Amino acid sequence: MMDRAALRLILLAVFLISATSDPVKKKQDVDIYSFYINSTVTSRYATTVITSRVANTLNESQEIQFEVKIPKNAFISKFRMTIEGKTYDGVVKGKEEAQQQYNQAVSRGQSAGLVRSVGRTLEDFKTSVTVAALSKVTFELTYEELLKRRLGKYELLINAQPMQPVADFKMDVHIQEKPGISFLEVKGDLSTGDLTNAIKTTRADKDAWVTFYPTRDQQTKCKSCGENGLNGDLLITYDVERRSPKGEVVVSNGYFVHYFAPSDVPRISKNVVFVIDRSGSMHGRKMDQTRLALLRILTDLDEDDHFGLITFDSEVSLWKRELLKATETNLENAKSFVKEIRDRGATDINAAVLAGVDMISRHPREGTASILILLTDGDPTSGETNIEKIMANVKEAIATKFPLYCLGFGYDVNFDFLTKMSLENGGVARRIYEDSDADLQLQGFYDEVAVPLLTDIQLKYPGGTKLTKTSFSLYFNGSEIVVSGQITDNSVESFTTEVIAVSKDSNVTYQDTIMTKDPSDVPPEDEDFMQRLWAYLTVKQLLERQVLLKGQEKEDENKEALKLSLKYQFVTPLTSMVVTKPQEGEVEVADKPKEGEEPARRGMYPQVSTRTRYTALAYGGGGAVDGGTSYYFPPRGGRYRPSIKHSTSSRVHDNVFLLDVVGQSKPLCFEVPFFHKLRLLQDSASEFSMNGEPMFLQSGFQIIAFHYKTKHHLTINTTSITYHDGQNHVEFLWGQGPTQHTSEDVCLILRSNEIVVTMGNIRVIILLHKEKGTTFLWPDVQQQTKDVKFTGIFGKTDASYEEIQGSQKPTLKIHDQEVSASWVDATNNRLSSKPVIKCWLVSFYAAMQRDVSDFTVTQL
Ligand SMILES: *[C@@H]1O[C@H](CO)[C@@H](O)[C@H](O)[C@H]1NC(C)=O
Ligand SMILES: *[C@@H]1O[C@H](CO)[C@@H](O)[C@H](O)[C@H]1NC(C)=O
Ligand SMILES: *[C@@H]1O[C@H](CO)[C@@H](O)[C@H](O)[C@H]1NC(C)=O
Ligand SMILES: *[C@@H]1O[C@H](CO)[C@@H](O)[C@H](O)[C@H]1NC(C)=O
Ligand SMILES: *[C@@H]1O[C@H](CO)[C@@H](O)[C@H](O)[C@H]1NC(C)=O
Repeated sequence: MMDRAALRLILLAVFLISATSDPVKKKQDVDIYSFYINSTVTSRYATTVITSRVANTLNESQEIQFEVKIPKNAFISKFRMTIEGKTYDGVVKGKEEAQQQYNQAVSRGQSAGLVRSVGRTLEDFKTSVTVAALSKVTFELTYEELLKRRLGKYELLINAQPMQPVADFKMDVHIQEKPGISFLEVKGDLSTGDLTNAIKTTRADKDAWVTFYPTRDQQTKCKSCGENGLNGDLLITYDVERRSPKGEVVVSNGYFVHYFAPSDVPRISKNVVFVIDRSGSMHGRKMDQTRLALLRILTDLDEDDHFGLITFDSEVSLWKRELLKATETNLENAKSFVKEIRDRGATDINAAVLAGVDMISRHPREGTASILILLTDGDPTSGETNIEKIMANVKEAIATKFPLYCLGFGYDVNFDFLTKMSLENGGVARRIYEDSDADLQLQGFYDEVAVPLLTDIQLKYPGGTKLTKTSFSLYFNGSEIVVSGQITDNSVESFTTEVIAVSKDSNVTYQDTIMTKDPSDVPPEDEDFMQRLWAYLTVKQLLERQVLLKGQEKEDENKEALKLSLKYQFVTPLTSMVVTKPQEGEVEVADKPKEGEEPARRGMYPQVSTRTRYTALAYGGGGAVDGGTSYYFPPRGGRYRPSIKHSTSSRVHDNVFLLDVVGQSKPLCFEVPFFHKLRLLQDSASEFSMNGEPMFLQSGFQIIAFHYKTKHHLTINTTSITYHDGQNHVEFLWGQGPTQHTSEDVCLILRSNEIVVTMGNIRVIILLHKEKGTTFLWPDVQQQTKDVKFTGIFGKTDASYEEIQGSQKPTLKIHDQEVSASWVDATNNRLSSKPVIKCWLVSFYAAMQRDVSDFTVTQL
């Protein structure tokens, strides 16, 4: 008897030991054993190849992720995965065809997470593939871009964030510039700390090489690096020698490019009018930053410049009726005016821009360059609010006499409208990101247009065809005009360029003839690069013109851009890359994200490809409704209404649930009381559920629990993640370093502040938000099978509403019910950056059409 009891005790002890030591997995099961970034720049055309080689060191198959960030301006042109000697190439297809293939895969249950998101300068490319036990995979991604000259330099930005220190990490950059490189500098987070020693720059006359080979140890020791290795950018800036003002012509394989950037021309004095939005939505930091930027810009004006200042909300105020010379006294007076600009009413863009046009038009133009700069952060909401009419009015008033530049501040602007209006009037639109450096962005934009050298520039190429844009209204010092085309007769030995423009006080002509077959030329590494450069520039310009065109012409150009995108395998807004994975029939689709839109979630939210806008509601500053003041909504077409006063309260709602609504650009949002445990997402058929327990008196959740197929249980709180699959028990800690765990069709990928949970066809990211001493969780449902009817708060995908126009208080119509709404600032907790966005805040019942009690659970 005694023996038995002893044996039992021993067994129990063994069990206890295994139960505590075995489960806690903190080792990395994925080894990125090599990571190469190889960038070649030939005549400003940069082709970058990222190659990542990864081993699954686990004894079972698991999903391995590949995620990189590429410059926004670039087109992806190739993606390849190699697994067990077999290659899988991404294929670029027309958007509709790709979508179809994707939908078919989804309906077969071979779901395909589409991945795209966009930041300020970089966008994400993300994919994953299941790799067998102890096997390897190689990912290879290629992207291409034409570097743009700004303020006298080109910038090549390379991001590296492999997610772990890599034994064999190499970044090689080779720049070849025929006229010679005048200066080159390497900057960025990756050139800080210990890493400075890992960068080597070699210069020859026409070439420069930058290598960056940090050791594994060095990879953890830069400013933005850590346990997870490199995380940051390398920024290579350079310029080329410009010996001839006629510019540089490069010819290769039947294509040419002409870079025109003279700098030895006298500056033309300018007439510049700033039209500044001071509507309620500019309240707070935006208004402060705008004032700051204007003060600096005024200081930078040259004495022979003339300038005007217009501020507007629903009323338009002119600082002075005429343009005034930038004398010291005038500038001082202007600065006093700027310091007094306060945010107040609605947004009458039409009246303000027309006032600016009028001011410039009345000023004599001879020998000067006129520029109109509009800064706004919102839709037109007062006066003329019909966008088509505003554009027609502005176009007619400007009549191609000078360019209009539009600066869209933040994400509430109708950026399409601003882009279109600028392009129609010879300018460009630029986005100003709502961030601590917005004032510098504003000033940076002004610096680019501060020194006009030429106006009315026409470029001519008698021997060229299929030319990109050849006529420009202004040329500014520090920028560059680029024209590319095909050479009509490739057998001719010379090629002629001619530029006609108006300079300060004379008409100027630059003529040049170059030999197309220069024996001293070293052929570039990639013979086809010139053709690709031409295609890149052509597609970019065709896409840009799309907003201006209508009918047949638009369709034709659209077709042309699509044809070129397909031919050169560029992932553009018209195409998608379809990646077929080794797992039978599974496909993934990568799109080019659209500037200014939040990352789309395919699968859950239907794609809204154009932002539908509507015009009648006026609104003022964020959150004024909370302050208890009432809104004034001018009727359609009303003019010069008294301005709207707002209280100063502008609370940001940090605990709202967002509902994207098909066909509406403004999301709905609602709040949930924090004293219930909630059913967040449920699919009874696959026995899946996700429940959450909110933080008491704070935003977000303290615990989120998943249950799947009765035996899988996952519980996530703000310190740890515990998972039980019926047999094994695993525990991870937040911040322990990237980890993956796969068990049957459940996959967990843990990163520093998010965990990706995949259960069957359902994928949810749980974000860990940390700020000011509080930490909370927030789920972001990424993907769910389309034809399954989900329940739970995040299961609602069919929200809809209409705005009721003309009522005294903001009112929405939801399911035939009129409900009151507030237009508020809210944090979007579905993104780790938690950007502040705007949404229509309505009651829980109005949004969900059910009572909260229908979503409560007693147990997680
Ligand atoms: C980088 O690309 C160039 C040109 O394609 C090639 O010659 C070189 O070997 C590559 N380097 C690496 C490290 O892959
Ligand atoms: C790995 O798998 C093999 C064969 O299935 C098995 O013999 C071995 O014990 C496993 N090793 C580990 C560490 O699980
Ligand atoms: C244009 O810029 C170059 C250097 O970037 C400078 O040397 C030149 O003086 C500038 N021209 C004028 C007119 O400001
Ligand atoms: C420049 O050319 C235009 C037309 O070609 C002419 O009208 C104008 O007078 C010329 N300006 C000067 C300063 O020569
Ligand atoms: C999270 O869960 C773990 C394991 O259940 C527990 O030890 C820990 O105290 C929890 N943390 C919080 C903040 O509740």
